[in-house]
Amino acid sequence: MQAVNEKFDVMIIGKSFALMTMCKASTKLNGLYVLSDYANPGIIKEATNYKIADTNNPENAVEYAKLIRPHFAIIASEDPLAHGVADALLNIGVPCIGPTQSLARLESSKSFTRQLLEKYDIPGNPAYRRFHDENGLAEFVRELGEFVVKPDGLTGGKGVRVMGDHFTTVEEGLAYCRELFSQNGSVVIEERLDGEEFSFQSFFDGKHIAHMVPIQDHKRAHNDDTGPNTGGMGSYSCADHLLPFLTADDVKAAGEINRRVGEALFLETGEEYKGILYGGFMITKKGLRVIEYNARFGDPEVMNIASLLETDFVAICLAVIDGTLDRLPVEFRRQASVCKYIVPRNYPEKLPKDMDIRINIDDALASPEFGKRLRVYYSAINEKDGAIEMTDSRSLAFVAVADTLTEAEGIAETAASSVKGNVFHRTDIGTPPLIKKRVEHMERLFEIERRRQFA
Ligand code: GLY
Repeated sequence: MQAVNEKFDVMIIGKSFALMTMCKASTKLNGLYVLSDYANPGIIKEATNYKIADTNNPENAVEYAKLIRPHFAIIASEDPLAHGVADALLNIGVPCIGPTQSLARLESSKSFTRQLLEKYDIPGNPAYRRFHDENGLAEFVRELGEFVVKPDGLTGGKGVRVMGDHFTTVEEGLAYCRELFSQNGSVVIEERLDGEEFSFQSFFDGKHIAHMVPIQDHKRAHNDDTGPNTGGMGSYSCADHLLPFLTADDVKAAGEINRRVGEALFLETGEEYKGILYGGFMITKKGLRVIEYNARFGDPEVMNIASLLETDFVAICLAVIDGTLDRLPVEFRRQASVCKYIVPRNYPEKLPKDMDIRINIDDALASPEFGKRLRVYYSAINEKDGAIEMTDSRSLAFVAVADTLTEAEGIAETAASSVKGNVFHRTDIGTPPLIKKRVEHMERLFEIERRRQFA
């Protein structure tokens, strides 16, 4: 149990300027230490100290932790979790927000999670089967009709292929499976679902759960959900802590699935899961379905959360570590949030060799909204000679918080469209036409009126 005025040294592993922002806002923070694969201007400016090293190598985390002796570590990304960074830190007595390698299978193995839900009778699984080779594969996909191919490992959200979206014929889907088998992979085949997706994240201390707010991410690169899949181009949440196509009962059901997954993980492994349970859900005509689980905050969703969280984040982390989350009310502002990522012109492809990679965000930073209803979150960028330079991934995001979704979207859009350089962003995230499209999609599926006031 900590003393009331005690301050804490926190170590963050992996990328997440949003986590740094939440720590910096805490009255309980002493030093903020970051182990990252690269240094963006946010880390350089805000960290007490940082080290650039391969975050997937547990030895790097141990070496840095021995030097700085943090009270606890937060593991921000899926790869370090899958490589056992939490296990290594726990071994030297550093508590972690982020599960051990075994528990992180929740994200790193699609089949582990499907089997967990099945074994513990948790609702949400679509029809699915795991295959190591072609034996029985063609029969199963014909049985399903439209199907989804998921490599049974981490693919940064880009390896999943959906019939009708990424391939059209059964033979094309089977060819993709063969390609994965030839790389020694196994695949999970699932029925294709139709509905609206949303992310519902919860803090979990091994026994108790505290839910965040539902958020909708946008995976396709271009407006109107076109173009290739990405890590996520932006996200929004609503002031009433629902989404325009979700009911309070839907959100309650998603929270109960998260809780039961946390409970099942203990029953399955004998280890307590301490960290973030991120359920990727789809509301379908047949009910709520689990698309996937992540063992960390969502990106971009963490930026909506960081912009809305009212409770002291370090206090939440301490409660997760102590197993006392039931005694800490976790609260979020009753406002809407819109996040828009700025990405290189040809994202998610690699940067063209001859492209000018400098971007200028001065106009957004000079906006009267900046620091009030508008924030910037740095991601995969470098600072060189005072200029911001892009790398191959998502560069930075603007998040606006306001009383209505329309207002928040307007502020985020003004900032995003003022960026100069070889960039683009989705101009439609959080706009009334796209929200209307989502609601109408649900109405078509349910053939009932589910429209709510959303702006
Ligand atoms: N928002 C998708 C992800 O974080 O994986």
